Amino acid sequence: MKILFYDTKIYDKESFEAARERYPQVELEYLKADLTPRTAPLAAGYQAVCAFVSSDVGEETVRALQKAGVRLILMRCAGFNNVDLKTAKACGITVMRVPGYSPEAVAEHAMALALAVNRRLHKAYVKVRENDFSLNGLLGFNFHGKTAGIVGTGKIGAAMARICRGFGMKVLAYDVCPNPSLEGMAEYVDLKTLLGQSDLVSLHCPLTDDTYHLICRDTIREMKEGAILVNTSRGALVKTDDLIEGIRARKFFGAGLDVYEEETPNVFEDRSEQILESSVTARLLSFPNVIITSHQGFFTREALEAIAETTLENALAFQRGEKNSNTLGES
Ligand code: NAI
Repeated sequence: MKILFYDTKIYDKESFEAARERYPQVELEYLKADLTPRTAPLAAGYQAVCAFVSSDVGEETVRALQKAGVRLILMRCAGFNNVDLKTAKACGITVMRVPGYSPEAVAEHAMALALAVNRRLHKAYVKVRENDFSLNGLLGFNFHGKTAGIVGTGKIGAAMARICRGFGMKVLAYDVCPNPSLEGMAEYVDLKTLLGQSDLVSLHCPLTDDTYHLICRDTIREMKEGAILVNTSRGALVKTDDLIEGIRARKFFGAGLDVYEEETPNVFEDRSEQILESSVTARLLSFPNVIITSHQGFFTREALEAIAETTLENALAFQRGEKNSNTLGES
């Protein structure tokens, strides 16, 4: 099995090469370039490509991959909103993903963002470095005894619910398909109730047509005054302009975002020497109560090992002609 690996970072290569020792039948070639319609033809001669969250796996790319003879797209991530599954199916290309490599990695990062925003750790860090030991602007509130609202209670949302319970929070949950493992741990309510009662709202549902701009002017209006919003799921769950409007209206205590709408050109790139034009991200960052991280929720040692292992397992399962629960686009 020959796989062309797109958008390779040093840590990707390390984790996949370590895993490959257990899968000698897999051949991996690494490209720095990300998968786009222009780079898809480079996959000629490979059975599979391996792509990630910022890859363009839309219609044009998928058709170019088909032309190149690719039969399998291995997504080394859980989300697959950037993949045109319909076209993949029509082109006879199977799409596989890694659904649950380490839910705790993302949930722990969600709580890290919530805590950092609440206690203004980003400001405290800078202040103390400048010998400013005053506490102005750092006042937070106890999570203990407050209410956390978890939107989407699959693997990551359930892990976040458990963490919030560990902090002594009441947990409200909203999901189109409730998770029985949270019985006795979280109370399922409708979205309006969750937003109206939660001091911390954490988003963990996938990006779909139904969840696009789930947090917008109307739903922000329904949120409790002074709540913290955390998004570690996908940027487009939140309508950024409306979030900015809400922050300006002092609706939020703060926001912690690991993902945001215009992240695609930024994700995992060092753009520190560039002048960024017309960036709403820059506007968000101008607020003292907003913290943004660069899609690093998944980024733990354990998660990288699990991603590499499952991706190579997926490749071999495909080669054996098997379909498993990681298969998205059945050909
Ligand atoms: P999952 O599939 O286990 O859970 C998703 C949950 O969302 C399910 O329970 C589903 O019923 C629910 N859901 C679907 N549509 C909904 C709707 N309209 N309203 C409310 N709930 C809805 O997925 P998992 O593993 O928990 O991941 C969640 C998301 O986290 C992924 O889709 C991905 O976008 C994001 N993610 C982010 C990472 C990061 O590094 N920041 C890493 C991994 C995933």
